[in-house]
Amino acid sequence: MKARILPDETLRKLAAQHGTPLYVYSAAVIRERVRELGGFDRIRYAQKANAHPEVLRLLRSLGVVVDAVSAGEVRQALAAGYQPSEIVYTADLFDRRALEELRRHPLPVNLGSDFMIEQYAELREKSGGPRDILLRINPGFGHGHARKVNTGGETSKHGIWFEQLRDCVQRAVRCGLRVHGLHLHIGSGTDFDHLVRVCQAMEQLCMVAEEAGAHIEVLSGGGGLPIPYRMGEPRLDLVRYKAAWMETRQRIAQRLGRTITLEVEPGRYLVAESGLLLTEVRGVKQSGSVRYAIVDAGFHNLIRPAMYGAYHQISALGQTERTATRPTVVAGPRCESGDVFTVDTLGHLLPQALPDLTCGDLLCIHDTGAYGASMASTYNAQPLAAEVLVDG
Ligand SMILES: Cc1ncc(COP(=O)(O)O)c(C=O)c1O
Repeated sequence: MKARILPDETLRKLAAQHGTPLYVYSAAVIRERVRELGGFDRIRYAQKANAHPEVLRLLRSLGVVVDAVSAGEVRQALAAGYQPSEIVYTADLFDRRALEELRRHPLPVNLGSDFMIEQYAELREKSGGPRDILLRINPGFGHGHARKVNTGGETSKHGIWFEQLRDCVQRAVRCGLRVHGLHLHIGSGTDFDHLVRVCQAMEQLCMVAEEAGAHIEVLSGGGGLPIPYRMGEPRLDLVRYKAAWMETRQRIAQRLGRTITLEVEPGRYLVAESGLLLTEVRGVKQSGSVRYAIVDAGFHNLIRPAMYGAYHQISALGQTERTATRPTVVAGPRCESGDVFTVDTLGHLLPQALPDLTCGDLLCIHDTGAYGASMASTYNAQPLAAEVLVDG
């Protein structure tokens, strides 16, 4: 069973104070993850994972800068105290709200589609903004914990196709822009053969870009650092992960004869394990052979199981390793058959070992600090869950 991020007593108090469903985050876990990533020149937090203002403020206090993917995220970062120069706007398009926001707050951009080059040049001419841009490249292959989050290869909409890089750099130069960095976000997983491919691709792409007129001084290895959602899953070997990127940076710096800044851009890694979703059991029922615990959190609070078949371990407050358990399906209150937290990637029920539950028991859905509250909706006219960051 996963250890809970806070004592049961604290969680009970928080549930009584704020009601359920309730997202609870631990600042201590976030601090520890930031510390672990020391060694990179910059940690850029992908705030899509969790943009709670207190989470952003905490990360800023730890020297972590941010990646924003929409006008709304730019505004969240600014509201949390980030300076425009500490925010990079990364996207595969500029929608009209993003253009408006960038007009108001010229900030660095990371362009994931070729057509954005001329659009950014036009924006910059009218409203100013950095001349240096990053290009997000799709190297032709990818990786991801589920098909829907694979961020490379031709089935991914993300990034500039690698064969167009030379042309894109030349187009940027013609527009008066300077490509000063490349970004590859293609999910690294714990698969080091894949990481080696990513690093090799980065080196080759830097050389192509440089020949075409870029002046590479920043490398961004993107995010995608995994966390062990299941008990017994290995943790990412950070020593190996860092070494692969540091060696890549070193080779590129030598070939280009200049200092290169190395960025990493995790979302999940920094916050997923800091959070849990507290939910109250409202009743238990048996349908044939299946035992259902129906809880007050639904897929409008946490969409990952319904959307990707993502696994989140669930435990009951008071449950210990010695507690007798029975296979239980945990389902939410929404008027949708798919509103179930315990499913596999094909959507089949995957019961979890839970004690005999009754109405009023509290369950923790673990590792929900990333892509939990930030992907929530108000479907079925439900309010968003409250979120609490506990520090100390
Ligand atoms: C450009 C970019 N950077 C970083 C991330 C963060 O990924 P993760 O939370 O898996 O680290 C994403 C995720 O979609 C992304 O698109």
